[in-house]
Amino acid sequence: MNKFRTILMTGSTGVLGRELVSELLKTTEDKLFLLIRRKKTQTHWARARKQLTATNQDVFLGTRVQVIQGDISLPGLGIHSDDLETLEREVTHLFHAAALTTLNASEEDCLHINTQGTEEALKVAWHLKQKGKLERFFYFSTAYVAGSLQTYCAREDEMAREPAFANFYEASKYQAEKKVRAAMTQGLSATIFRPSIVVGDSTTGEVGEFNVIYPFIKLFAHGILKKLPTRPENSFNIVPIDFVIQASLHIAAQENSIGKAYHLVTQNPPTIGMLVSMSQMEYPGMARMEMVDPASFKKSDLDLIEKAVYEMLEPYLGYLNDHLTFDSSNTIQALEGSGIEFPNTNDAFLKILCQYAVDQGYLVVN
Ligand SMILES: NC(=O)c1ccc[n+]([C@@H]2O[C@H](COP(=O)([O-])OP(=O)(O)OC[C@H]3O[C@@H](n4cnc5c(N)ncnc54)[C@H](OP(=O)(O)O)[C@@H]3O)[C@@H](O)[C@H]2O)c1
Repeated sequence: MNKFRTILMTGSTGVLGRELVSELLKTTEDKLFLLIRRKKTQTHWARARKQLTATNQDVFLGTRVQVIQGDISLPGLGIHSDDLETLEREVTHLFHAAALTTLNASEEDCLHINTQGTEEALKVAWHLKQKGKLERFFYFSTAYVAGSLQTYCAREDEMAREPAFANFYEASKYQAEKKVRAAMTQGLSATIFRPSIVVGDSTTGEVGEFNVIYPFIKLFAHGILKKLPTRPENSFNIVPIDFVIQASLHIAAQENSIGKAYHLVTQNPPTIGMLVSMSQMEYPGMARMEMVDPASFKKSDLDLIEKAVYEMLEPYLGYLNDHLTFDSSNTIQALEGSGIEFPNTNDAFLKILCQYAVDQGYLVVN
């Protein structure tokens, strides 16, 4: 990764974005423009400062890191005209990683932020290509644009015709990726990354935020939800964050990744049975999860509280009844000879993830 780039990044305060920023500052000489929204009383600059201080990288603020205020739900990403002029002069690469990732968010919010937000990011990209220096556009999609409720092998360079989605997040990301693909055919040099469920670091379990799959595990570990309609042999595709960061940055630096999509997934997904046996062996005090055959599972058998919690978690169920497989030919080819290995998500890795959550006080086991 020798070429000097100036990157505009959305979503830099998120789980993936924070790691992308930190890694880019450590391993490249790239200049970064972070598009960050104001939150409550915190300005975009204050938020960036706090984030970079946590990784001892605040020294780069104002030099290699510039912060601009924006909101992807607004026209033109809410970028002020003065900032846009600066971006025109400087930006060569745009990473669009901002999204609403809450799996039980409303259809309206998902479409507004994920689909319309991506459309706005594409408009800014076209503008920066035509008026400025933009060379490449990188988009963080999800492996679940395939629809987590179906059984088939998802391919990287196509999209399912009639995907069965478990939630509005997946549906809105599907529509967003379609827009990115349409822009590719119109000549935008775009590359699409499709991670599965991002979890902690492969060796330490460390993760910036316990989101997506973690709240689900917590409800079982704490005995709030006891029955799960699944089978022990069902797998769930998790991918450590360090692999996603290393692989995406490596692929982003390749000239021939233009116009392609990449599944950033594990090739050996763990099963629910593995998770249950690991937790029983390692954490005997942890509440037990009972697996109920999905064919005979009835919501009406749950007590009132369990039923309410179950309904809240329904959008997640596709991920734990995973019959989807992901062809990763493009990723395999792109990583060949790089030393970046597909992750081994075995039971030892599950233990690392749980132990980190226990050590941080997120999971409480007696
Ligand atoms: N984590 C996963 O398991 C996973 C898996 C597959 C794909 N992905 C994709 O990877 C990307 C990054 O995911 P993540 O896990 O890092 O998400 P995350 O932790 O939920 O972070 C979301 C990011 O988007 C920003 N954002 C949301 N709405 C915004 C708005 N209206 N304007 C400006 N910024 C906004 C957030 O900013 P604030 O800090 O201001 O809220 C935050 O920086 C997303 O596109 C996601 O769909 C994630």
